[in-house]
Amino acid sequence: EQAGKGTYDHFMLKEIHEQPTSLSQAIEGRIDPAGGRIALADFEPGTFADVDSVQFVACGTSYHAALYGSLALNQAGVQSTALLANEYSVSAPPIDDDTLVIAVTQSGETADTLTALRRAAREGAATLTLTNVVGSTAAREADDALFIRAGPEIGVAATKTFSSQAVMLTLLAQRIAADLRGEPPADLEALLPELESMPAAIDDVLAGSAAKTVARRYSDSEAYFFIGRGLGYPVALEGALKFKEITYEHAEGFASGELKHGPLALVTPETPVFAIFTGQEDEKTLKNAEEAQTRGAPVIAVCPDDHPAVEVADDHLPIPDTEPDLAGLLANVQLQLVSYHAADLLGRPIDKPRNLAKSVTVE
Ligand code: AGP
Repeated sequence: EQAGKGTYDHFMLKEIHEQPTSLSQAIEGRIDPAGGRIALADFEPGTFADVDSVQFVACGTSYHAALYGSLALNQAGVQSTALLANEYSVSAPPIDDDTLVIAVTQSGETADTLTALRRAAREGAATLTLTNVVGSTAAREADDALFIRAGPEIGVAATKTFSSQAVMLTLLAQRIAADLRGEPPADLEALLPELESMPAAIDDVLAGSAAKTVARRYSDSEAYFFIGRGLGYPVALEGALKFKEITYEHAEGFASGELKHGPLALVTPETPVFAIFTGQEDEKTLKNAEEAQTRGAPVIAVCPDDHPAVEVADDHLPIPDTEPDLAGLLANVQLQLVSYHAADLLGRPIDKPRNLAKSVTVE
């Protein structure tokens, strides 16, 4: 097992550091920045032209990636919703022949997700699985499969598979929107070169040491909150899930604007707030973070160096400047590192957290 970790103490840290490579693999041959197009070989242009609405089904971290994809689709003008697979049997929205149901699952074997996928197929939806595992049940059972090519992920806490899922869903969202409109979305031209430079941007994040310092500074806190807006929202949820999963500390993610509708009652000087800035109404998120700061909470801004939040925040986790569609993914890498270092300081069994399994094959 030690041999598999290479020079890293844990698989999770190794897998966090593999993200520049896993993302390169995910996008290789699938984007054409010079031609301003997305090239998904298995999906001819027009494949999605008849899609009326998209429903995502997924659990845990994959659900957060699915929510990311669903919000990206909505922002591109396509009707879409992300549902927890384990809720799908009681609360699936109506399905017809023009509904596309996308199962997002790293392993392709999650029982809840398989049940939702089967239900969608039974009701007549077109189905597509986004997974890391070729030959998995979800890949075999769906009409189509798209592979994230992240390589094996051993740590129970999903890291590199989340970023590859989210990037692939960003691509897919643009492709579906293009097929529906008959022309590429206006922001695709700006997005593609930024996508191509994501591996290098993640390398920049990994080269910094701020996450370890922040983890140490707030290690005695009572609870940890994560806030984000737009595409920063699923990243806030994912930041909190990762934190609770491997540190066993109380962590929650909120939509920034929701803080004042209840969670603010929990905020004290003992509850650091990680605020994610993605360039989507950042001024509002900054205001929400300041409301927490006024109640004594330290604010850790996850944003580029020249962002106004840096002046206001107590601490700063820097990310390179990029398009709003991708900024949250860079922020997520900083949050993965904070969780990892916080768990390491607490001496937790990072790769195998108590009570959890890598793939959950029961409902
Ligand atoms: C993530 O860190 C967790 N291990 C868990 O939430 C996981 O994402 C979930 O069980 C779904 O797994 P899947 O992607 O294999 O379907």
